[in-house]
Amino acid sequence: MEKTKIILDCDPGHDDAVAITLAANSDKIDLLGITVVAGNQTLEKTQINARNVCQWLGVDVPVYAGCGQPMVREKMIAGDIHGETGLDGPVFPPLTKELEKEHAVDFIVKTLMESDGDITMVTTGPMTNLAMAMRMEPAIIPKIKQIVLMGGAYTNGNVTPAAEFNIIADADAAYVCFTSGRPITMMGLDVTRKVLCYPEIVDRMEKIGNKASKLFADLMRFFCKTQKEVFGWEGGPLHDPVTIAWLIDPSVVTLKPMHVDIDIRSVQSYGRTNCDFFGYGGQEPTANVAIDIDAAKFWDIVEAGLRRYSEA
Ligand code: RIB
Ligand code: CA
Repeated sequence: MEKTKIILDCDPGHDDAVAITLAANSDKIDLLGITVVAGNQTLEKTQINARNVCQWLGVDVPVYAGCGQPMVREKMIAGDIHGETGLDGPVFPPLTKELEKEHAVDFIVKTLMESDGDITMVTTGPMTNLAMAMRMEPAIIPKIKQIVLMGGAYTNGNVTPAAEFNIIADADAAYVCFTSGRPITMMGLDVTRKVLCYPEIVDRMEKIGNKASKLFADLMRFFCKTQKEVFGWEGGPLHDPVTIAWLIDPSVVTLKPMHVDIDIRSVQSYGRTNCDFFGYGGQEPTANVAIDIDAAKFWDIVEAGLRRYSEA
């Protein structure tokens, strides 16, 4: 079966790191490149984190640094969740994997323009890089097969009651992407909050006993601690890997077409993904929004993904 070609745009970030782990060694996915954006931490830190994860796993995927701040507003980071480095917890050996010289936005434009329109853009951080690429070269837009993002919510946010981090961190970029006309699949907090990485999940994965499972355990023990401190979760919601799990096995998530507007105008609800769940507004749906997830199947996909790596 042909692999799904993807570019993974991310802001590692503990959950981004698990998304990289699943995407980089899957028999269903061809990971063409990892493009990095500021988000969970500054760009200087998120690009180092992406390189460290690839080096630790021994995966030969190019890493490109992209935009270090949002298109319009001031930068937001999530150090309270991901720590000072953006990937606190694991201890990595000296970093030798090089950062690609090409800017991430240039890589996205070049790769899409040279493609047959068969590349999926996966974003698990603020959508700045993809939006900037669309603005820089609008000819890439019809070349994007689909956009699969972790972001938004049709219920409550996690930065404000209205807004989720990846969207509010650069709502203007999200607006550009959501109005691009390309097929969008949105994995919001509504489903990612149903895959809480409880301690028993961490123990289950750690027993696999390879380098990927050790990384998972070291990541999750830090991530779950801060998620408990900040939000009171008994297990950290494993947001970003839901995008990859869906590409590996679409049956893991239930989708519902909805018209989605990104609020870039209001103050109190700035950054909200206004999802017309009931279609009451009569507008054409603009995204397939995740409304449920088979948590057991999700964890099986994660475990299978970790097992694909060789012994430590
Ligand atoms: O709101 C959760 C999202 O924001 C995740 O992608 C997390 O990594 C942060 O980027
Ligand atoms: Ca992320």
